[in-house]
Amino acid sequence: MAVTIPPLERSDFLTGQPLVDGTEICGDSTYAITNPATGEALANVAKLGAAQTYRAIESNSRAFIDWRKRHAQERARLLHDWLALVRLHRQDLGLLMTAEQGKPLAEALGEVDYAASFIQWFAEEARRVYGEVIPGSADRRIIVIRQPVGVAGAITPWNFPAAMITRKVAPALAAGCTVTLKPSELTPLTAFALAKLALEAGIPPGVFNVVCGDAPAIGSVLTSHPDVTKFTFTGSTAVGKLLTAQCATTLKRVSMELGGNAPLLVFDDADLDQAVEGTIASKFRNTGQTCVCANRILVQGGIHDRFVEALAARVSAFTVGNGLEGATDQGPLITRAAFDKVQGHVADAIAQGGGIVTGGKRHGAGELFFQPTVLTGANPAMRLADEETFGPVAPVFRFDTEAEALALANATRSGLAAYAFTRDIDRAWRVAEGLETGMVGMNNGIVSTETAPFGGIKESGLGREGSRHGIDEFLEMKTINLGVRS
Ligand code: SIN
Repeated sequence: MAVTIPPLERSDFLTGQPLVDGTEICGDSTYAITNPATGEALANVAKLGAAQTYRAIESNSRAFIDWRKRHAQERARLLHDWLALVRLHRQDLGLLMTAEQGKPLAEALGEVDYAASFIQWFAEEARRVYGEVIPGSADRRIIVIRQPVGVAGAITPWNFPAAMITRKVAPALAAGCTVTLKPSELTPLTAFALAKLALEAGIPPGVFNVVCGDAPAIGSVLTSHPDVTKFTFTGSTAVGKLLTAQCATTLKRVSMELGGNAPLLVFDDADLDQAVEGTIASKFRNTGQTCVCANRILVQGGIHDRFVEALAARVSAFTVGNGLEGATDQGPLITRAAFDKVQGHVADAIAQGGGIVTGGKRHGAGELFFQPTVLTGANPAMRLADEETFGPVAPVFRFDTEAEALALANATRSGLAAYAFTRDIDRAWRVAEGLETGMVGMNNGIVSTETAPFGGIKESGLGREGSRHGIDEFLEMKTINLGVRS
């Protein structure tokens, strides 16, 4: 098999397999993982299904008995040991991620750091699971303790092959839960490597399992098995709704981090450079393939032309190519279907009166590369106004008033992230309060950090990840009503 990546210190990361109960396991068949930049095969991995998922959950249930009883201090120590190994193997994890996902190496290394930040944060939070004491009545004291939910099922996407895993698994383990994770079939190698490092760090077999292969079969077991008491998903809204419905049959605790359609508002009084840099950071991160990427860029009339000119100058200077070669800024799209969607959005926008300022076509770097694109004259009738493009296309809508901008921004069933650029402090507050999203970047194109709650409203999700609230998703409250004789 042609291997298209520089040699790894941990060459076993390239031959990694699903990990259940501390053992790499095989399925009845295998499938190939390909590099989206070159189309070449990287590895063959086991294709698992329902039977192995049942096995994984059984091992989670066994491991839970001991793991939940370990003192928080010990779970924290083991998470810190896992963190140290992730940091030690940062370069290999970054190379692996670029090879299977396509993001430029600098971005992949940044994602390893982002992933590590969740392990560190929740290793620290493990020791801060506080309860409360409520003065009940003369003969009663009420004590609330917080205990792990139990076995958690998790499904993560291909766009962040490391960070979406640690943002779920680290708080689960910190809380005392055990987890079976299904990463995307497109990017399992990073997941296998993370699970292997957790095991090497001393996290006991069965605490963190990874299964992968037949997604509907695995998903159906994770969402229906009575021993799975918590289910957490990051991915599309359509799939999230389906999985939530499946979880309803056994009434699991559910958290959903789903699709967005982020508006980014630029007002006449914005700092032009800050607005352009913020737009680049939000729109073109991971080649436009994040659920918090700006999807609609709304620009006020007075700054519109200057903004478009400055944005197009930055965008046309991007280096597009294989993320493992040179100083690449933009990589490939993940699949042919993703490429076709981006191309379809651009064609539809042009047919509906949009104009290309830069880009607009397939890039010469390869089959799945699309030119970084800025288009103007965007309007609500276009497909890109209603659907996430998930690619390197910045459509600019023009508006006149703040009220019009807010109405346009909120005209969507999604409510994950939004961004606004203004130097007027009153407007900043009004707009931040008026945007119907779970997160707002104000004069800032990045909202993601381990320290802040991440999640959406409307059809963008349920619950929050990261921050001091992220661990709550894996904890239950228990009320102890204590009779007291005076
Ligand atoms: C996502 O795209 O699903 C998450 C992005 C982030 O954590 O910033």
